[in-house]
Amino acid sequence: MERINCAIITGASSGFGKEFVNLLIEDTSFDRIFVLARNEEKLNNLKTKYGEKIQPYSIDLSNIENIKNFGKYLETQNVNIKLLINNAGFAKFCSYDDISIDESVNMINLNISGVVAMGLICIPFMEKGSKIINVASQAAFQPLPYQNIYSSTKSFVKNYSQALNVELKEKGITVTAVCPGWMKTDLFNRGCINAKKGTTNFALMVEPNVVAKKALKDAYKGKDISVYGLHVNLCRIMSKFLPENFIMKCWLLQQRIK
Ligand SMILES: NC(=O)c1ccc[n+]([C@@H]2O[C@H](COP(=O)([O-])OP(=O)(O)OC[C@H]3O[C@@H](n4cnc5c(N)ncnc54)[C@H](OP(=O)(O)O)[C@@H]3O)[C@@H](O)[C@H]2O)c1
Repeated sequence: MERINCAIITGASSGFGKEFVNLLIEDTSFDRIFVLARNEEKLNNLKTKYGEKIQPYSIDLSNIENIKNFGKYLETQNVNIKLLINNAGFAKFCSYDDISIDESVNMINLNISGVVAMGLICIPFMEKGSKIINVASQAAFQPLPYQNIYSSTKSFVKNYSQALNVELKEKGITVTAVCPGWMKTDLFNRGCINAKKGTTNFALMVEPNVVAKKALKDAYKGKDISVYGLHVNLCRIMSKFLPENFIMKCWLLQQRIK
């Protein structure tokens, strides 16, 4: 029986993930697009909008058992995963003590463990030419006070993706770490919690669709990192040459945090 060529997009119910769905829906190399997130209604709305090609799967990706169950589900689906986009993630733009221990650890579970586990579950269903896109951030390039866990999780995603890309060369699978600057999405509605001290200055915001287009282009070129925009590229270069303490001071000045 011929296998079903598919793409899997996590965090597809909103923002950046939804833009990937918009861009991939017309791509005839995919028979099916699995869209994953917690909000079942929003996922079903995608199916109503785009039709049978969309396969909603409601899941909390911060729980590894759920991801293992998704792996068992994939075994019943006869799939060839041509593209995995690990996009689900969240941030809290506040001081270390403004959020609970549970919420702090949950950010690590979703932004790091979820990305790793989804990749490990999906790789056995991939073949030569398959692609993994892991969404990191501009925040990955340096430590960022008042979003310390978020920026650290994104550093992990960037480094892990680049290293995994090397390991997967022998299978002909590529991994691309996408490092966007600020984009107009719900990340901020969820992440800004009116903290006493928090990061609130999100300069040079762009629309997510332009970043998603560039990410797909770079992934298909086999690049291990995708950066959209001059300011993000500059930030990446400066982080290689300037001392981290200096960069963090500039960041606090930009955020007007004393
Ligand atoms: N916006 C930016 O400026 C920016 C910049 C750099 C990187 N990023 C990264 O881009 C990615 C997408 O974020 P976004 O900006 O598009 O924000 P968003 O609009 O808030 O989207 C986040 C997505 O992740 C899903 N999600 C959240 N928690 C989840 C969980 N526990 N299990 C499964 N899915 C979950 C959400 O769906 P449900 O709530 O339905 O689960 C939603 O679809 C994130 O990794 C973020 O860190 C964003």
